[in-house]
Amino acid sequence: MTATDRPIPSDADVLEPEQIAGHADMDPEAFRAAAHRVVDLMADYVEDIERHAVLPAIAPGSVSSQLPPAPPEQPEALDAILGDYLRLIEPNATGWQHPGFFAYFASTASGPGILGEMLTAALGQNPMLWRTSPAGTELEQVVVDWLRQALGLPEAFDGLLTDTASTSSLIALAAARQAAGIDAAAAGLAGRSDVPALRVYASEEAHSSIEKACMTLGLGRASLVRIPTNDRFELLPERLAAAIAADRAAGHRPIAIVATVGTTSSTSVDPVAAGADIAAREGLWLHVDAAYAGAVAIDPDLRAPFAGWDRADSIVVNPHKWLWTPVDASLLLSRRLDVVRDAFSLVPEYLRTVGSDGTGGEGSGRHDDGRNYNEYTPQLGRRMRALKLWIQLRWFGLDGLRRRIRHHLELAQGFAAAVDAEPGWERLAPVPFSTVCFRHVPPGLAGDEAALDAHNAAIMDAVNRTGAIFLSHTKLRGTFTIRLAIGSLRTEARHVERAWELLRAAAEEVEPR
Ligand SMILES: Cc1ncc(COP(=O)(O)O)c(C=O)c1O
Repeated sequence: MTATDRPIPSDADVLEPEQIAGHADMDPEAFRAAAHRVVDLMADYVEDIERHAVLPAIAPGSVSSQLPPAPPEQPEALDAILGDYLRLIEPNATGWQHPGFFAYFASTASGPGILGEMLTAALGQNPMLWRTSPAGTELEQVVVDWLRQALGLPEAFDGLLTDTASTSSLIALAAARQAAGIDAAAAGLAGRSDVPALRVYASEEAHSSIEKACMTLGLGRASLVRIPTNDRFELLPERLAAAIAADRAAGHRPIAIVATVGTTSSTSVDPVAAGADIAAREGLWLHVDAAYAGAVAIDPDLRAPFAGWDRADSIVVNPHKWLWTPVDASLLLSRRLDVVRDAFSLVPEYLRTVGSDGTGGEGSGRHDDGRNYNEYTPQLGRRMRALKLWIQLRWFGLDGLRRRIRHHLELAQGFAAAVDAEPGWERLAPVPFSTVCFRHVPPGLAGDEAALDAHNAAIMDAVNRTGAIFLSHTKLRGTFTIRLAIGSLRTEARHVERAWELLRAAAEEVEPR
């Protein structure tokens, strides 16, 4: 029976009294019992994760077609709702929690992180003002500072938690625009004869979120100057300097450089120190996008790729990527948080704090004695993301996080070595972190790039259809590239070995003869 043709239960045995006639929320005791059941479902899901295909073998529309087209007029029993969850949602969820998830960058919801999400949901905080969540606000300040210390960054950096790296970089570039002294927050950009075309610089390998930020901030995609990279996909600083000089000569106004540590396609590392030198010389904002790889800096022995990032104006690191925090959690650090605030602060009367709660009263001039985080972001309401991070940092300890990061780095090196050793396979980029870029080059296709692209796309598709692992691809210099990105907390050596077996089997299977 599908959700569509299931009769609507209306009987008092299955519905709770509050559902039938009440005006209030679920009864606390009913909630307690239901919550225990839900926790069991959660634990079962994680425990049995390998029973599910990592990539559900379904076509678009196959989930929605099983759901009623209209909302229920009458209340439904929790049994029925959870039954549908088990039948329709779980099996059709992509296995982000699956140890065979090697696509994109993994995002594991760790056990302690999930516990944090549960408590966060129950507290239902909105830390937009200090007063609307003293615990949420101050825990965020503490957790941000813990993470800053863990990453080895100086005290000058302060920051906040956002939903995604895209938002963090948007905020950083809004601050860069503000720092340029044209007060776009107040006067905007349109129709201003006093503002030349603004320019932002990032490598050709930088993430699309930087371009989106330029679109959103009214700079336009045309403002983003893509700087060429070397054969390791790292930004060429001399080309950056030349592009800035050319733009100045053309009357444009450079405002920011974005350096990436761990680019999305190949995880290449831009020369941050050289970028910092150029930014200092040119008076530009330096933003470092370390959304994926930043987690590695938690290990002081592994900080070489980050040299110079302590001179950045802003840095983004995503705990929801390689620190196993349930989506969403992005850390934005800046040594110029006052400028971030200038870019976003707007305090209408209804958000002013009046009274004696330590945040100052009207006209007290002490509006920010307690931090009001909404003044640093485009949105007002915000999730309390600090609790899950606080619980996680304590449960794992920095030592535990480092151990797991090093394990992933070792697994990636092992996989890269296997690719290098196998005739007919080719690695397409260095492996500075935990992502390996490679392709199959059968002798019959060598030199035929279009055929090789199609061949490797077929291999990846065949492997993904097994349901055991999930890989995604990119193009490097126009070449179809399979990526194996290790980052799931549940991935063990056997999963990586299985991936390699499946790839070799698929290569044989789809090889043209
Ligand atoms: C280097 C880099 N920056 C930014 C992002 C965007 O991350 P988010 O999905 O948190 O916006 C990604 C996503 O993979 C990334 O790889």
